[in-house]
Amino acid sequence: MSTYTDAMSRLREVLIAVDYRVDSVMEAITTAGQSDLERNHTVAACRALGQRTDRLATLIRLFILQQVVPSSQALAAIDVSGLAELGLITVQQDQVAAMVDIRPFLDESTQASGWVVSDHAASVDTRVVPPTTDHVLGMSPASVSLSQITPRHEVGAALDLGTGCGIQSLYLCEHARQVVATDLNPRALTMASLTFALNDVRVDARLGSLYEPVADEVFDLITTNPPFVIAPPSDKRLTYREAGLRSDDLMKAVIQQAGPRLAPGGSLHVLGNWAHVDGQPWENRLTQWVPAGCDAYFVERETLDPYEYIEIWLADAGWMGSPQYLTKYRQWLEYFGACGVRSVGLGWVTMVKSGSDSPRVVAEQWGHSVSQPVADDLQAHIRALDYADWSDHRILDQTWVLAPGVVQETLGPVGRQDPATVVLRRVDGLRRAVQVDYEFGGVLGACDGELTLAQIVAAVAHLSGTDLGGLADMVMPKFRQLVAQTWLTPTGASAEDHLAG
Ligand SMILES: C[S@@+](CC[C@H](N)C(=O)[O-])C[C@H]1O[C@@H](n2cnc3c(N)ncnc32)[C@H](O)[C@@H]1O
Repeated sequence: MSTYTDAMSRLREVLIAVDYRVDSVMEAITTAGQSDLERNHTVAACRALGQRTDRLATLIRLFILQQVVPSSQALAAIDVSGLAELGLITVQQDQVAAMVDIRPFLDESTQASGWVVSDHAASVDTRVVPPTTDHVLGMSPASVSLSQITPRHEVGAALDLGTGCGIQSLYLCEHARQVVATDLNPRALTMASLTFALNDVRVDARLGSLYEPVADEVFDLITTNPPFVIAPPSDKRLTYREAGLRSDDLMKAVIQQAGPRLAPGGSLHVLGNWAHVDGQPWENRLTQWVPAGCDAYFVERETLDPYEYIEIWLADAGWMGSPQYLTKYRQWLEYFGACGVRSVGLGWVTMVKSGSDSPRVVAEQWGHSVSQPVADDLQAHIRALDYADWSDHRILDQTWVLAPGVVQETLGPVGRQDPATVVLRRVDGLRRAVQVDYEFGGVLGACDGELTLAQIVAAVAHLSGTDLGGLADMVMPKFRQLVAQTWLTPTGASAEDHLAG
């Protein structure tokens, strides 16, 4: 065993032995401590640890709270010399400090768990330190969002593009036979490799930009939250968030160049930003990025005006309170002006290599709360593109199933038997809602896979005394729209249906 593997497996044994897991760490630092850490403060967690010097507390102090501990205390907890040789800790005058952040993680929905190695947060307890250009982020809210829009069915080959601390690869290892992780930043690959070694998972880590390191390969699944921040060019750009390309060209490249890298039926899942540009609907720009042979679904979760956007990212780079703050701000605004950026969208991209002759694309703004993880619902939207294209005849002759988890809400004056309004609401996925009238609600309620739509419409017309032709004309466009929104699935449909040919 190499020194590296040896030291990492000894560290893993320690982490297991002291139960350095989410539950134990949470118990030690308390919920208030965790919330405080999320606000970049260590005060509450330190207070919760009090005078504790046991092994768990020592690991939390070193690897999460960025505290220096006495050598004797560190020696009782970890293999100090082995980790010092790897550069993970430093020893100075009987004091030990960690050079990296090591944090346990647990995903509630998949029960995936392990540890993630990254750089320490640059700014804590209001000490503002601009990150270095090769800074490697730990698991962030964006990492969690990406993990939730990435489906978890079994696949062959998966690509984690821009792996950073390696968190997405840990998820992929749970359901992909082969995982490749790439990054442009050598320091990120070092951190990711530490993460992989610590979790004892096999990931092929490769250095390079975008798809260069995998130029001749295809994948069943690609997941990425690339450095999507739209920022003025700089020779000191932060690699974790900026690609150095104009405006949102990075997102365009990630989407366009994914076409040849996806196996038939394979899918790409991206979290990122796109520009709303003068005189062009955002949906049209994004649609043009989708390569031949693919279908895509864009969900814009949020739209920020330039001021809010720039302020968020200036603060992220540690420019708050600096004398250069306003100069940087003005430069950024000028850059947005030059690129025609009016506002910036933040959202999700799901793209499937369907074999379509010309890409079919749906783009919508959906800022409402959703039921995470939404990955399966996002993919279902792409499959639904097929069904929503069917002829009226085919839709009428088909048996359909209403999505599980639809509840009916009624609104109306107190005491009245007939509600004034009936709303059907999904409790899963995007949590869509639709208002229905009595007849249409009856049609949807009967979609349990037994009768064809034509039979159901005839039965509802008979029961309600409605003209059959009139009811069918009323039902068809609404039904088609709900099919497109994944409320209804034809019986016998499977995930493979979407593949052309
Ligand atoms: C926002 S971080 C995402 C990290 C990780 N995927 C996660 O979920 O936490 C973006 C990553 O992309 C990497 N990156 C930057 N430019 C890149 C490029 N041109 N090609 C590949 N990766 C790049 C950065 O080094 C960084 O690790």
